[in-house]
Order: sequence, then C-alpha cells, then structure tokens
Amino acid sequence: MSVLVIIPAAGSGTRFGGDIPKQFQPLAGKPIVQYIVERFLLSGFVEKIVVAVTDALLTTIKQAPGDRVQFVAGGETRQQSVMNAFKAAGEDFDVVAVHDAVRPFFRIRTLEALLDVAREHGAALPALPLTDTIHATKDGILTGTVDRTNIVAAQTPQVFRYDVLRDALERAMRDKYDATDEAGLAAHYGYDVRVMPGDPFNIKITRPEDLALAEAHFEEWSRE
Ligand code: C5P
Repeated sequence: MSVLVIIPAAGSGTRFGGDIPKQFQPLAGKPIVQYIVERFLLSGFVEKIVVAVTDALLTTIKQAPGDRVQFVAGGETRQQSVMNAFKAAGEDFDVVAVHDAVRPFFRIRTLEALLDVAREHGAALPALPLTDTIHATKDGILTGTVDRTNIVAAQTPQVFRYDVLRDALERAMRDKYDATDEAGLAAHYGYDVRVMPGDPFNIKITRPEDLALAEAHFEEWSRE
C-alpha cells in the first residue's frame, strides 16, 4: 500500500504572538510541523509527505529533509492548501492521509488502523465523543442546548482512498464549496466516511496554553 500524506500548514494565525504561526512554534526543541513529518516517516507505508506552507516561508526553504518530503505553496483556505499539495504530489498512491499541522501526538498505530478502514470503505477519521455540554448562544445569551448524542469532535489524520479524495476535492472546486475538513467534504459528496475511536492525547495546539500542556506532557503523549 502506498500512502501520500498531506499536511496543510499554510495558515498564518499568529495568536501565539510574534511572527511565528502556531504550527512552527517549537515543541521539545523542534518546530511542531517538523516533529509531525518525522513521525509520519516512521511508517513504512508513507511514500511521500507534502507540506503546504505560505509563499513567504516557501522562499526561505532551501532543501526538503530527504526525498520523501516536498513543500508547496498553500492556498487561501485549508481546502485550497490541501488541493495544491494533492496536485503537486502526483498520482501513484493508493491512499491519502490529511493531517493538521498542529496535532503532534497522533499515533502510527491509529494511522495504520485508519488506512485499512479507508481502503475498504473509502474514507475514515478518528473522532471523540463530546464531554462538555454544548449550548447555542446569540450575543452572549444562551439560546438553547445542542443534543450531543450523535455529535463527535473530529481529529486527524483523516484517510481517503486516492480516487475518493480526488473526486471530492475536484467537485468542491467546481461547486465553490469550502469545508472545514476533508472528512466533511467526502461525506458532503456522499462517500462512506467511517468514524473510528479518536485519542484524547491527539490534541490540536491552538492556544499558548495548549503548547504549555504539550511540553508538560510531552514524554507521555508522544509515546507510541
Ligand atoms: O485555522 P485552522 O485551525 O482551521 O487551520 C487548520 C490547518 O489548516 C492548519 O494546519 C493551518 O496551517 C492549515 N491552513 C492552510 N492554509 C490555509 C489556512 C489554514 O494550510 N489557507
């Protein structure tokens, strides 16, 4: 099985302060994205990793680390960044995994379980049930409570048969439909997207507090 990994890392969010977007903040001494790339390279199935970055960053990258890693310019949205990476990668893959640039603690065994399910059914993602009560609000006032029975929080890597992701991305471009993740996109176009158990350690580093938490629990959370 030949696997392409796409990492959309072209977001410019700098809520962490300074000029460095969160995906390039250091975690245990290296940029989060680098840590993620190195972890994917541990899987023998992964033939290529394409990282979408901002134009500004692309001009500063002189050489990719090894011939399995490639950098491309991202687009205006996450989905466009994924499309750019997808197009740049070529076609010789059975399966594609798309992974957030800010989730360093995914496990290779989760990836490999997802690969099998995606190959059989077309698409698979890890997700967690919600534990908090979810309320709807308007202008700071609570307006109702969401029934969370059938709601899950999506994680990545999200894995697709090559033809499934290609079709969903191409149709979305034609329709000008922009989804917040690729699992949602595939489901929108009628594909069977299987939900697998997520991992509470596979957090998305979005706020400075998340990075502090990630540093504090690095040893434990990064264990395979
Ligand atoms: O901002 P958000 O959390 O939705 O970003 C999700 C991922 O998509 C991040 O890894 C971010 O770098 C990436 N992204 C991208 N291109 C954009 C916007 C976001 O690659 N234009």
